Amino acid sequence: MDEQQARKRIDELREKIHYHNYRYYVLDSPEISDFEYDQLLAELRTLESKYPQFITLDSPTQRVGAAPLEAFGAVEHRVPMLSLANAFAEEELLAWHKRISGLVGRNDFELVGEPKIDGLAVALTYEKRRFQKGATRGDGFRGEDVSQNLRTIRSIPLVVSHEAPESFEVRGEVYLSRVGFKKLNEERGEVGLPLFANPRNAAAGSVRQLDSRITARRPLDIYIYGLGWAEGTVPPTQWEVLEYLQSLGFRTNPLNTLLSCLEKAEEYYDRVAEEREKLPYEVDGVVLKVNSREMQDRLGVVGREPRWAVAYKFPAVQAHTRLLDIQINVGRTGTLNPFAVLEPVTVGGVTVQRAALHNEDDIKRKDIRIGDTVIVQRAGDVIPEVVGPVSSLRTGKEKVYRMPDVCPSCGKRVIKLEGEAMTRCTNVACPAQVFELVKHFVSRGAMDIDGFGEKLAALLLEAGVIEDVGDIYYLKDRREQLLSLERMAEKSVSKLLLSIEKSKDRPLSRVIFALGIRHVGSETADILAQHYRSIDDLAQASNEDLMSIPTIGPRIADSIVAFFDLDANRTVIEKMHRAGVKLALKGGRPQVLPLSGEEIVITGRLESFSRSMAEAKIKELGGSTGSSVTKKTTIVVVGADPGSKLERARELGIKQLNERDFVDMLDSVERGAGQ
Ligand code: IVH
Repeated sequence: MDEQQARKRIDELREKIHYHNYRYYVLDSPEISDFEYDQLLAELRTLESKYPQFITLDSPTQRVGAAPLEAFGAVEHRVPMLSLANAFAEEELLAWHKRISGLVGRNDFELVGEPKIDGLAVALTYEKRRFQKGATRGDGFRGEDVSQNLRTIRSIPLVVSHEAPESFEVRGEVYLSRVGFKKLNEERGEVGLPLFANPRNAAAGSVRQLDSRITARRPLDIYIYGLGWAEGTVPPTQWEVLEYLQSLGFRTNPLNTLLSCLEKAEEYYDRVAEEREKLPYEVDGVVLKVNSREMQDRLGVVGREPRWAVAYKFPAVQAHTRLLDIQINVGRTGTLNPFAVLEPVTVGGVTVQRAALHNEDDIKRKDIRIGDTVIVQRAGDVIPEVVGPVSSLRTGKEKVYRMPDVCPSCGKRVIKLEGEAMTRCTNVACPAQVFELVKHFVSRGAMDIDGFGEKLAALLLEAGVIEDVGDIYYLKDRREQLLSLERMAEKSVSKLLLSIEKSKDRPLSRVIFALGIRHVGSETADILAQHYRSIDDLAQASNEDLMSIPTIGPRIADSIVAFFDLDANRTVIEKMHRAGVKLALKGGRPQVLPLSGEEIVITGRLESFSRSMAEAKIKELGGSTGSSVTKKTTIVVVGADPGSKLERARELGIKQLNERDFVDMLDSVERGAGQ
C-alpha cells in the first residue's frame, strides 16, 4: 500500500467509525458488533502508526487524552450561556405559565419537556463538520477551554453530518451515570482518594481535569439540548432543533417530549418523576421550554434567565445538615451499626433526623466527623444515608469518630475481625442482640407469632419477663405479669398466648431460620431441615459434615458450629424442647432425652450443687422436678438434713438416691446423651 492508498483507507475507516459511533452513541442502535467495530479501530490505529503524518485531532483514535495542560485557556461565549429560573412547586409553574401567557396574549402554546440532568453545561463549536472547541459555562460569558477533555467523550461526535452548517455551536450537559459514579468512587476509595459527593461533582471534576488522559478513563456521557448559534438557517421550533441536532450526529435525550399544553407538561413532570429512580443517571427535574423560537425571542431574557424556559424541580434527594452525633445500634448478629444523628432537615419532602453510616471503614473513607456539615441523601424508599462531609465548611472543632471498644448495650468488649468491615459484640446475652433476635424470631417468615410486636418484645425484655427466645414458650405461666404490662388486657394476653401455642407447630425449617444463626437465611434453613431432620442432629453436625452438603460453604458451616457451641443457644433449644415446640420433621428421630418421664424431688442440702443448679441439670436432661413428693414422683434425691419428704418417699416406696448416686447418675446419662 502506498502513501496515497493509505490516506484513502484512513479516511474511509474514519468515516465508517464516525458513522458507527453515531449508530451506537446517538441512536442507541448499532449496526455492527463490538468486535467488528474494534477491528475497524485496530486497522485505523495500525495505519496511523505507519503513517503518523495523517493523524488529525478528529480521528477516532484520538479519544485517549493528551499531555496535561498548565492551565485552561479562556473562551468567550459568542452568545451568553444562560441559566434557568426554577419552579419548586406546582403554583410556581402555574405562575410562570400565566406570566408568559399574559405576555404573548395566549395560553395554548406548545412546550418541549426535557429531563434536567444534573451535570455540567458545555458548549461545543464545530467548523467544517469538525469538532473545534469545547468550553464550560463559566460565568455565562467566559468559560474554560476544555476541548482536550471533551474530545475523550465517545458520545461527542468529532465529525458531524454533511448537512451541518458551516460553523455552529451546540450546548448540552456532560454527566456521569449512576453506575459510572459508583465505580469511580469505589476505585478512589481503594486508593485512599477523597470521594465525590455526587455524580454532578464527579462529572465537573472530570471535565475540569488538566490531564485529559484521566478524563478519558471516566465514563462521561453527554446529552445535547440546544443550539448556541449557527451560521445558516435554523428550524423554527425547539422540537425541530432537537430533531435536527440528532440528525447531525448529536446525542439527544429520548425522553424529550413535545407537549401540546401546560396540562401535558404537568403529566410529563409526573411521568419523569416516577421513572426517576430507574433512570441510569440522576435527574433533578424537567426543563420546560416554549416550543416556538419566534415566541422565545418575543419573551426574551430577564437578567440571566430566559422567560421562555423553566426548570420544574423534583424534591431534592440531597440536603446539607449538621451531624450532631454518631450512635450505635447493635444488630441481631451483634454487629455494631453506626448511625448519624442529624439536625432535622427535609430531604425529598421528608424530615430526616437519622441516617445510615454503614460501618467504621466507611466513616473513615468518607472522612465524616462529628460536627461536620454533611450531605444527606434519600432516594426512593431506602434509608437516608450520609454521603459525605462538606469539608470546606469545617471550623476545626469537628471530632474524628472512634468506634467504642465495648458494646454500648451490654458493656462487653467488642471485636473487629481481620478483613471484616463490621465490629461486633460476641456476647449472645447482649440485650440489644436479644431484642433484635426476639423481633426476628417472632416475625412472619420465622415463628410467625401473631400479636408479638417490637413494643412487646422491648417491654418483656426490659421487665425481665423473658431473657431469651426460649422463654417465650413459658409466658403462659406468667399470665399475671403479662397483664401488669402496659396495654395488655385479658383479651390480648389470651390471644398472644394462643398464637405462641400455635407457633409450636411450625415446620422445622422455620425454627432453624428463627434461631437467627448468622448466614442462615430461610433457604439455607430449608436445606438444613431436609438434611438433618431435627434440631438435635443439626446441633451435633461437624464442620465437615455440614460442608458435605452442596450449597453449604465454610462460612455457613463455621457459623452453625459456633452457634451450637454456645451454652446460651443450647439452653434456648432445651427450653423449646421442654415446652413442646416441634423440633424435628416427621420421620426424624424421636426426641427422647435420658431423663424423660422422670419426676425428681430433692430434699436436704447438696454439697456439690445449689438446689437450683441441680434442678436445671435435671430439666436439661429431660426430667421434671417437683417441690413435694407425690405418687407421680419417681426419684427422691436425699441430701444432708433431709426433711419430711424423705419419710413420705419411704411411705410411698419411691426410689431414693444420695448425692453421690445422684451425681453418678447425671454423669452416666449425660455421657449416654452425648453418644
Ligand atoms: S437549557 C436557556 N436544557 O441546567 C437555558 N439546560 O440552570 C439554558 N440543564 O446550565 C439551559 N438539562 O447545565 C437546558 N435540557 C436542558 C438541561 C439544562 C440540564 C442544565 C444546564 C444549565 C442549567 C440551568
